[in-house]
Amino acid sequence: MSDRYLDFANSGIGHWLTGALGLPQPVPIDRDPARLAKSALVADAGGGRLGGLLTCELERLGIAHAGGGSADALIVDATGCTTVAATGTLYRIFHENLRGVRANGRIVLLAHDPDQAPDEGAAAIWRGLEGFLRSLAKEARRAIAAQLVYLPVVGEPALASTLAFLLSGRSAYVSGQAIRVGVTAAGSTSRKRIVLVTGASRGIGAAIAENFARAGAHVVGLDIPAAQQALAEQAARLGGSALALDITAPDAPARIVEDARARGGYDVIVHNAGITRDKTIARMDQDRWNSVMEVNLAAPIRVTAALLNAGQIRSGGRIVAVSSLSGIAGNVGQTNYAFSKAGVIGWIQRLARDVAPAGITANAVAPGFIETQMTAAVPFTIREAGRRMNAMGQGGQPEDVAETIAWLADPGSAGISGEIVRVCGQSLLGA
Ligand SMILES: NC(=O)c1ccc[n+]([C@@H]2O[C@H](COP(=O)([O-])OP(=O)(O)OC[C@H]3O[C@@H](n4cnc5c(N)ncnc54)[C@H](O)[C@@H]3O)[C@@H](O)[C@H]2O)c1
Repeated sequence: MSDRYLDFANSGIGHWLTGALGLPQPVPIDRDPARLAKSALVADAGGGRLGGLLTCELERLGIAHAGGGSADALIVDATGCTTVAATGTLYRIFHENLRGVRANGRIVLLAHDPDQAPDEGAAAIWRGLEGFLRSLAKEARRAIAAQLVYLPVVGEPALASTLAFLLSGRSAYVSGQAIRVGVTAAGSTSRKRIVLVTGASRGIGAAIAENFARAGAHVVGLDIPAAQQALAEQAARLGGSALALDITAPDAPARIVEDARARGGYDVIVHNAGITRDKTIARMDQDRWNSVMEVNLAAPIRVTAALLNAGQIRSGGRIVAVSSLSGIAGNVGQTNYAFSKAGVIGWIQRLARDVAPAGITANAVAPGFIETQMTAAVPFTIREAGRRMNAMGQGGQPEDVAETIAWLADPGSAGISGEIVRVCGQSLLGA
């Protein structure tokens, strides 16, 4: 759906008028997946341990070190910053260089995980960086995305896939996030990966399916029987397969296991299928409650358990679920939906621990306002509020969610598990 306000605010007269009236002036997001920062200013906030690793990774990505002035990215190593006194250096780095980050640029702040801090002082500083980074991300504007990456205190972090994502156009609508990356060695696979995507026939699911297919995977697109034709056309277009099936059907887990077995197991499962049945709790009938809880929460848990029990998620496998900002912030009329989507977060965080011994990761994305048929059906004023109430001043696109899922499902993202990454342009709602 087109965003007329965004177009208007970026026209000659519109830019002048919105400026004169003090209205939001969102900068169009450049989400070209092939766009990678060309130059990065790399700074150490004092005593950081990542200098060598960052030099290596940037060289591998072909990103030049900026000497000063302007740059596409600002990368700051705060792993050595453990006292209030030491934060002065951090302040100066951002005070002097934030304006030099170009529009659509990137900021990556790296620190140690506060849960592993050697003392209270370090825990306070590393956790404090979250408040700092979230504020900085809001101040940066100009479609600049900024993230905090927490690393383990010991061992060499497996940063490659994360830097490649965060420094590219693929992470355009992810901002103000704190992401934990571990040391697990990057995996790789030469075989064609088999990816199951539920709710694949349209919206975010269709973008996810296309993204994986573009990257060379065989996509099994699953959707309700009523979407059979769209699924079949998609499978033909992407060279994948279609599975017309209601995930809440009693025989759904068995049929999915059967499909997985026939293909030698799945490498990636994306639980994207979801529904809303909005009403305030006082007006909500039992059917609305049950259907949302079944589709969004019970079915993904059942299907995943069946696949794991049958050994049909391969080692190195990736499970990614689609939660929602509603599950984090709550929303009027969505007690059922927010419950189910918060439940997804609880489930994924626990699942991540359970599947770790099998070399499988489990993560979730929590989209904010994404332009799809689901949000096109929302009344105009609520839709406009949803679009503007984030640091980017505009809605996200299905590709933004798909790219984030592709990063979490990357063989090189073995060190990321149990993470909940918001794809919301840093919405003002929620944490
Ligand atoms: N659009 C947004 O702004 C937004 C925001 C946050 C989260 N989400 C979540 O993202 C996911 C995709 O949303 P969307 O906007 O693309 O929605 P959509 O309604 O366009 O697509 C959802 C798909 O899931 C399928 N589906 C529904 N019930 C199913 C079932 N029982 N079995 C199999 N397939 C089923 C539908 O047929 C549809 O193709 C959902 O989980 C949604 O809750 C969307």
